[in-house]
Amino acid sequence: MTSLKTYNTFGVEAQAPEMLTIESEDQLLELLRTRAKRPYLILGGGSNVLFRQSPSGAVLLNRIKGRVVVEETTTEVTIGVGAGENWHELVLWTLEHNWGGLENLSLIPGTVGAAPIQNIGAYGVELKDTFVGLEAIELRSGEEQVFSAEDCAFGYRDSYFKRAGRGKYFITRVYLTLQKQPLVNISYGAIKEVLQAANIDQPTIQDVSKAVVKIRSSKLPDPAFIGNAGSFFKNPELEAEQFTRLQAEYPQIPHFFAPASRVKVPAGWLIEQCGWKGQRRGNAGCYDKQALVLVNLGGATGAEIWALAQEIMETVKMKFGVVLEVEVNVI
Ligand code: FAD
Ligand code: EPU
Repeated sequence: MTSLKTYNTFGVEAQAPEMLTIESEDQLLELLRTRAKRPYLILGGGSNVLFRQSPSGAVLLNRIKGRVVVEETTTEVTIGVGAGENWHELVLWTLEHNWGGLENLSLIPGTVGAAPIQNIGAYGVELKDTFVGLEAIELRSGEEQVFSAEDCAFGYRDSYFKRAGRGKYFITRVYLTLQKQPLVNISYGAIKEVLQAANIDQPTIQDVSKAVVKIRSSKLPDPAFIGNAGSFFKNPELEAEQFTRLQAEYPQIPHFFAPASRVKVPAGWLIEQCGWKGQRRGNAGCYDKQALVLVNLGGATGAEIWALAQEIMETVKMKFGVVLEVEVNVI
């Protein structure tokens, strides 16, 4: 048995019957060839999982490394990245080369291989905006497969790998196309204000990255000090009709327009309005600077955090008639 406490950013206790570190595609293929078929749980940085219980099968810790340029034109560069690379270190590497596209996704914890699972997003950009393809190995057959962006069926915090492909593949390599004459995207959130405050009127991608890091550090808890997995729930996308009814009752409700005439409402606002912000249930809490983040205040179990999440979902449903969807992968 191996303790998973330091392998998940919630810092909750769980035991893996066995843990194997995967450093190459060949090692994984050999493992799948030589062992009896059994369930596996793949872990990258453990920054988007909640262990309600211990996993039943072996944990495969993804540490496949490598960053290479696979294609380059005068305007674009396509890179292939080992799925076990750290996401933020990849972002910093692209910034060193002045390749644009990932700067708004600075400081997101975890590995490159987990990024396509929920199509990571922040500050108006999603992984899908630079993604061109990935390589994966099917765990049952040991077959290598290539997925295009279309195959991945990306949506808001969603992909094929969270639906029909859930738990079936080990993503080994991700391909992204970046811009050599980057344009900045500062339309979202507080980026503009942070740049203005620093007297930057012609921001570079490096400036945008620094602004994003600053904003994130001011409202999101650092898992090194407070256990968490970022947003616990997705922001709900409501039908126009349901939103209009809510807005009539709560005229101040923040909202953003989403595809298919739907309206996205910040779950953090709904949770805060229910009085949860800064509240605790035993050792589990609702973060006092960002109500969408559930935290381990010290010694919480996965079950305790899950019970708090259930209570929050119930009160949001009662007050607003909105059913929150969990974003974190619950084991
Ligand atoms: P893990 O937690 O290890 O795994 C997540 C899921 O993916 C699991 O189901 C796992 O089995 C599966 N998986 C992992 N690697 C592979 C692989 N190679 N092949 C197949 N399946 C795999 N997310 C955002 O989108 N935007 C944010 O702004 C954001 N901010 C965050 C802030 C904080 C403080 C924290 C703690 C988390 C935040 N997250 C955010 C969530 C998290 O960082 C991302 O989901 C990240 O991509 C998870 O990477 P990981 O390697 O830690 O994945
Ligand atoms: N809000 C509140 N109270 C709160 C928190 C938020 O009222 O306690 C309202 C405010 O109106 C605020 C709005 O919600 O303006 C949006 O808040 P914020 O900018 O903090 O973003 P978010 O919608 O809560 C999303 C992502 C984050 C991502 C940020 C920035 C989801 C589920 N979450 O959070 O992603 O970093 O936007 O783009 O979409 C993650 O997925 O783990 C994550 C952290």
